[in-house]
Amino acid sequence: MRNTTATRLLFEMSHPGRGTQIFPESDVPAAGSHIPPIPATMKADAPPALPEVAEPDIVRHFVNLSTLNMSVDSHFYPLGSCTMKYNPKRHERLARLHQAANSHPYQPESQIQGLLKVLFELQGMLAEISGLPAVSLHPAAGAQGELTALLTAAAWYRHKGEDRRRVLFPASAHGTNPASAALAGFECVQLSAGTGGFVDLDELKKEVDARTAVFMITNPNTLGLFEKDIRKISEILHDAGGLVYIDGANMNAILGKTRPGDFGGDMMHYNVHKTFTGPHGAGGPGAGPIAVRDFLADFLPSPIVTHDPSRDWYSLTTPKHSIGQVRTFFGNVGILLRGYFYIRTLGGKGLREASENAVMNANYLLSQLKDVLEVPHGDRCMHEFVASAKNLKTRTGVTAMDIAKRLLDYGYHAPTVYFPLVVEEAMMMEPTETESLETLDAFAQVIRNICQEPPELVRSAPHSTPVSRPDEVTAARKPVLCWSDCKS
Ligand SMILES: Cc1ncc(COP(=O)(O)O)c(C=O)c1O
Repeated sequence: MRNTTATRLLFEMSHPGRGTQIFPESDVPAAGSHIPPIPATMKADAPPALPEVAEPDIVRHFVNLSTLNMSVDSHFYPLGSCTMKYNPKRHERLARLHQAANSHPYQPESQIQGLLKVLFELQGMLAEISGLPAVSLHPAAGAQGELTALLTAAAWYRHKGEDRRRVLFPASAHGTNPASAALAGFECVQLSAGTGGFVDLDELKKEVDARTAVFMITNPNTLGLFEKDIRKISEILHDAGGLVYIDGANMNAILGKTRPGDFGGDMMHYNVHKTFTGPHGAGGPGAGPIAVRDFLADFLPSPIVTHDPSRDWYSLTTPKHSIGQVRTFFGNVGILLRGYFYIRTLGGKGLREASENAVMNANYLLSQLKDVLEVPHGDRCMHEFVASAKNLKTRTGVTAMDIAKRLLDYGYHAPTVYFPLVVEEAMMMEPTETESLETLDAFAQVIRNICQEPPELVRSAPHSTPVSRPDEVTAARKPVLCWSDCKS
């Protein structure tokens, strides 16, 4: 039965005289006659038309609304590539500590030495985890990290007097890769989908030349496979004087196991909100720090945090040839702090275990589902895998989107669908390390059930949500956000 409890607007629930406000008697003297009255032309003709609703109704309205949301705290959320892992509440509390939450970026350095120390240590940790020594905490998300690193690379090439305009990426790349390259002023070159989901080295060799600035690659790639030839790929780029950018969105698979800097990457971004448990989703806050090789350090955005051991002093400094600011002040500190606490809590051993468990959980889920939904690229995966509803669609007409919608009726957030583009009817599943065996079994059983259900039931899902299938493009491009528009 469709859930409509929370969809009535407060305006629709309003009854004259049912307001909840009780104002106390004024306890200050009335204004004296020496204060001129407010001119009539400046006064409203009537009080504002605010909804008048009793307190219990308001509380129920908002509590019911909140239960319509899917969140990691309430539902299993296997959204591939997005790493929706549990956000420990302890780190939420720590990030809200007065010393962090109430600091102001315009405070003098002397008053925020503690915060700068934490950010300095975070720079060091991210350098160590990546194997790339210079870090900027500035970018506000992975996509902005990509853009920042490409601008940094462009500044480096300019400084050397080299005119390199082309950025290459495989067909399985995330859409933000070419978007960032285009925004940074590069020409985008897409390689074809190589055999088995890997980069085709022969094609890469043909495309890489003196015009190549950067090759952007996600590793593990967006099919959940570790690019086995990543060292050879890096050699091809370096031999031609180009750089390798590692999209670090999938770092959750390799923490403490291997490092982009060790397998040939020159630059990378982290998604702190994914890998290091910053709460995210629905366009929420993020942080996309970048790590780069030493020769790029002078071009990083400003400021970075430096430490003078002779007087144990932390400062905000501008690298010599900095590309300038890409974000206000020193980054999205609230999310960076959560990442810092996560790394400190787990330590090196704990981070490695987190990745091992993420990979184990994904492989377990793959093993449970591969007989129901085809998994075109391999029997094994890293932290995520891409199943396909292609055969099911041919047999029954049920698509990946239909399964995704039907999962909502069972109380599961849908996996990522139709990405990467190289898999037809793609369903990208990333359970993360924080899910139990029972949760994975229950989810696999639900997918099996859905694949057995009458196709019409699945194709018309969801049946339990207030809205079933909005036109997603119109909903995103022309959202109706205010009451008057809603009425008309
Ligand atoms: C592979 C990959 N690269 C880049 C990004 C962009 O990261 P963000 O959403 O933090 O901008 C994502 C996001 O999902 C991703 O999956």
